Amino acid sequence: MTFASGPYAPTDTDEGPEFGSICIVGYPHAMVDAKLTASRLAQMVEGAAAVAGQTDLTAVLWTTVETAMDLTGAKYGALGVIGEHSTLIQFLHVGIDPDLAAKMGDPPRGRGVLGTITRVATTLRVDRLSDHPDFIGFPDHHPPMESFLGVPIRIGDAVFGNLYLTEKKAGFTIDDEALVEALAVIAGSAISTARLQRRLRRVAVVEDRERIARDLHDAIIQDLFAVGLSLQALGHNIKDDAVHSGLDEAVGRLDDSIAALRRYIFDLRPPVWTRRNLRLELADLVGQLAGPYGADVDVHVSKEAAELPGTAVDDALQMIREALSNALRHSGATKISVTIEEGADCVLISVTDDGDGFDPSTVSRGMGLDNLRSRADKARGTTTINTSPGQGTTVLISLPL
Ligand SMILES: Nc1ncnc2c1ncn2[C@@H]1O[C@H](COP(=O)(O)OP(=O)(O)OP(=O)(O)O)[C@@H](O)[C@H]1O
Ligand SMILES: [Mg+2]
Repeated sequence: MTFASGPYAPTDTDEGPEFGSICIVGYPHAMVDAKLTASRLAQMVEGAAAVAGQTDLTAVLWTTVETAMDLTGAKYGALGVIGEHSTLIQFLHVGIDPDLAAKMGDPPRGRGVLGTITRVATTLRVDRLSDHPDFIGFPDHHPPMESFLGVPIRIGDAVFGNLYLTEKKAGFTIDDEALVEALAVIAGSAISTARLQRRLRRVAVVEDRERIARDLHDAIIQDLFAVGLSLQALGHNIKDDAVHSGLDEAVGRLDDSIAALRRYIFDLRPPVWTRRNLRLELADLVGQLAGPYGADVDVHVSKEAAELPGTAVDDALQMIREALSNALRHSGATKISVTIEEGADCVLISVTDDGDGFDPSTVSRGMGLDNLRSRADKARGTTTINTSPGQGTTVLISLPL
């Protein structure tokens, strides 16, 4: 990245003199038209450093939102992570009180103007959201939001998510647009670095266990075995009964140690030699459950999600089993879809049916939905059920990674 034009002239006034444009190679248009002051550029560099300095993915996302709000003076900020079907699979927001957010219900899935940015994959800056042709209104309890700046965050050619800012008093300017676009470039690279590091950590843990298990098996167990055999061989030439039984006892203890080591190696193994294939296991599960029913079940597992750690696979499969069997048994659906994808810091599972839906407040409960919730709690995840009579049902599950 290069910051082009002019010597850096620090200034003690708030805004300082105009400082020319910043230009980020190969990246957005607003940079060209922006006339940024030295103090805003300095603020931008500081914000960029804060974002780039985070190693944890979740921290990168929150810092990006907060930095963008600071840079622009927006009252509200949010970051939506885009999933496989171009909907928002995660929505982090800043500025709205959690109690109020809870009253507003489910987080936005990216319809309306939020979805416009995903569709066009470019920045959108408007003074009055409600004037935009794609505006579809707000849910109950939503605070008023008019001025709006939305910027996609790219990783390579793909759009990872969108950064949304609203409610800047005098409206967002071309300078704000340039700064937030620059920030989005930095956020994209910090996100992909943090993701890569997480993968490497996972691989490192697996490889470590693999190595220890292999060493234990190949070196130590084989040695113990050899010692046992020599002791037995020695015994053949010894007539003394006391020595004989001493040798037998030693060999017996060696056998016990070997058995204990084998168990230990076996415990080390699950994530190692019995690496799970979520796609295959899910296909099996769906085949078993859906066989007797007429419904068409569509399964989609994203590439990243296919490599989940073993414990998450267990939870994911059990929870899908319940949600899917509910859809098959109770909903009368003709189409059901199961998707598993990786969000920013969690696995996101959805089971959607186009069946009858139900009213959770009046339905007679079995054990399934309660189990679903307690399994999610135990894994420190969440479940959400979107349903209403006649509308079909979507069960959304999020499990932390
Ligand atoms: N996808 C769905 N479509 C329509 N109704 C549903 C759906 N999922 C759940 N329900 C309704 O919610 C009720 C409670 O579900 P829950 O899984 O807790 O119990 P169950 O499936 O009846 O019994 P169990 O899970 O213990 O075998 C169901 O009996 C059904 O009426
Ligand atoms: Mg059930």
